Amino acid sequence: MGIVFHERTKEFHLYNQDISYILGILENGQPGQIYYGKRIHDSDSFQHLIEYGIKDMAPCAFEGNRMFSMEYLRQEYPSYGRGDMRYPAYELHQADGSRVSEFIYDGYSIFNGKKRLFGLPAVYVEAEDEAETLEIFLKENVTGTKLTLSYTIFRDFPVICRNALFRQEGKEPVVLKNAMSLCLDLPDADYEMVTLTGAWARERYIKIHPLHEGVQAVYSMRGHSSHQFNPFFALKRHETTEHTGEIIGMSLIYSGNFIGQVNVDTFGVARAMAGIHPEGFAWTLRKGECFQTPEAVCVYSQDGLNGMSQVFHKLYRKRLARGKWRDKVRPVVINSWEAVFMDFTENKILEIAETAKDLGVEMMVLDDGWFGKRDDDTSSLGDWYPNRDKLPGGIKGLAQKIENLGMRFGLWIEPEMISKDSDLYRKHPEWLIRVPYRQMCHGRNQYVLDFSKDEVVEGIGNMIISVLKDAEVSYIKWDMNRSISEAFSQNCEPEAQGKLFHKYVLGVYRLYERLETEFPDILFESCASGGARFDPGMLYYAPQCWTSDNTDAIERIRIQYGTSVVYPLSSMGCHVSAVPNHQTFRNTPLKTRADVAYFGCFGYEMDLNTLHEEEKREIREQIAFYKTYRSLIAEGKFYRLLSPFEGDEAAWMVVSEDNRVILAAYYRMRQPSNAPYKRLRLKGLEAGARYSIEGREGSYYGDELMYTGMVISDYACGIRPDPTRQGDYQSRLFILKML
Ligand code: GLA
Repeated sequence: MGIVFHERTKEFHLYNQDISYILGILENGQPGQIYYGKRIHDSDSFQHLIEYGIKDMAPCAFEGNRMFSMEYLRQEYPSYGRGDMRYPAYELHQADGSRVSEFIYDGYSIFNGKKRLFGLPAVYVEAEDEAETLEIFLKENVTGTKLTLSYTIFRDFPVICRNALFRQEGKEPVVLKNAMSLCLDLPDADYEMVTLTGAWARERYIKIHPLHEGVQAVYSMRGHSSHQFNPFFALKRHETTEHTGEIIGMSLIYSGNFIGQVNVDTFGVARAMAGIHPEGFAWTLRKGECFQTPEAVCVYSQDGLNGMSQVFHKLYRKRLARGKWRDKVRPVVINSWEAVFMDFTENKILEIAETAKDLGVEMMVLDDGWFGKRDDDTSSLGDWYPNRDKLPGGIKGLAQKIENLGMRFGLWIEPEMISKDSDLYRKHPEWLIRVPYRQMCHGRNQYVLDFSKDEVVEGIGNMIISVLKDAEVSYIKWDMNRSISEAFSQNCEPEAQGKLFHKYVLGVYRLYERLETEFPDILFESCASGGARFDPGMLYYAPQCWTSDNTDAIERIRIQYGTSVVYPLSSMGCHVSAVPNHQTFRNTPLKTRADVAYFGCFGYEMDLNTLHEEEKREIREQIAFYKTYRSLIAEGKFYRLLSPFEGDEAAWMVVSEDNRVILAAYYRMRQPSNAPYKRLRLKGLEAGARYSIEGREGSYYGDELMYTGMVISDYACGIRPDPTRQGDYQSRLFILKML
């Protein structure tokens, strides 16, 4: 790994064993993009890779040099108004109304390690030699604004992290109307864009479409990262598959409004950008003030989508998630939500906990409905004190009783929200985000607190802290159930309005930081109506996230498959729930429900006391099974094998780091009639090693299992003695061990 600076040509080459990233200073002083991809040899000069030609009859060329126009140059952080007519990476509005600016090279710094980003989540290093960072300093000569573009390359990951930092040093204030975290001009547009899109209860479906001239984007303007689009996209070659081929993945470590955009010009250059969504964003910078963009992470792989995902998984598991729970096995939980919703008493919760304990569950999580006078969604958000009618001994009493059973206790909160029917609203109506004298939208009868204000974050934090200080709470599920509408900070000057969305997110991060500093032993799980804030920003604070409100096993195959494109299994909350399923009304076998939920942070979300003895026996076995394999599931290398988006079946597998243990799963959504033969080609085994398959005679070479495949044909074809059960919604697990 290293960063080389070529003085004569003013070129920087960042490289490790897998990748090279090369940029140079163009003749007008702006940084130009030269190359990003597979590692190449260093050279004194890469000037020949800076292609440009004047393609118009009358281009916007620089005075004194009619051959130099920004329109035809590939850049690192393009400006608005100096001849480039494509989308800019930032916009700087000035006191006289001008929006034209250009940042000119003013030096650089190279150092070992990586800086933390103030107030924002980011990938980190544990030792200085894990990464090297290049900072390029630029200056806007008219406004006096400084800009630092930062690039970190990792020793052990094919990863570049980027961010931008603005600092106003001129006398007059400027207003940043846009400030991307990343801009990458690629020399061709022969890519397909991979995105994760969806809606409530069907989050993160994989969508792939070819790039075309013009603009294509994923985005959120909802205040959180959203069910609809994840802050991620990848550009893959047409021939790239799950297992082979070139792909560049871009992921934004941020939990609020974002845009991920590719702008293809008519000369085939693809400009990829990621950052905070400019809609509604206006950040005034006075002398001495800074604006730090979130961090964007680029992963380059030649090993297909799986190759890219495996890099994201390890990086996010080991160098984004933090705290005591980062490397610890996660408890098997029972969550009260789909068991009792808000209709419970202390006894009811204890009865569920007792049965759960007996079956091997380690944590009882009390979901929504424990505070104020909350019995339905019309009241009490903001009143973070226990409902004594339901819980006579408060949270303290219940937690103590759960601990006495030999289990840990977890609690649901939704700190960013407020109900109109609450003591908090009666006391602080000005704490809501709303435009006074306009009607406001509610979402599930609730309203959003103005987390851009310190006193709100502080006040809510105090209430939550007093609950947590009083009781033995080991786990927090932090929910966020609606988007932000009527975005307006009450009683603030106009300038504050353009800062609202970003400051809101900073407020959320600050409260997480405060709670985690105060309670470092608590395991945090983030949540937003299921998976509406399943993003890398949240992962920095909460190592796991509730993947979706849809707990139907068949839907979950798709949701978890898509989520795994970026996020590790250790980050996905996955529970077995009752049938018929609450969201889809589908009946699936208990085995299939567990076979899907194993591939994440496992738990149950049902009233266990309504089950037959036979089902309880099965659950006891499931929990024992999960406990045996949970480290492998959390830490192993994950491969997607068969896509549920392409047919009626799906498969995936996890291989331990030393390639010795494999857990593979095959799911069949619909029973085919007179099924064809079927083999599963495994991945990541050692070709020359022999593996046993649990339940089968003999052993098999790794190469046979990878290239010929593991025969899993149906009994219908008379092949195997242990076939997939007949009918729809079936699954099979395979455990392989190296001999
Ligand atoms: C959201 C969450 C659920 C549950 C409910 C409680 O929908 O995603 O898991 O906590 O809120 O109101």
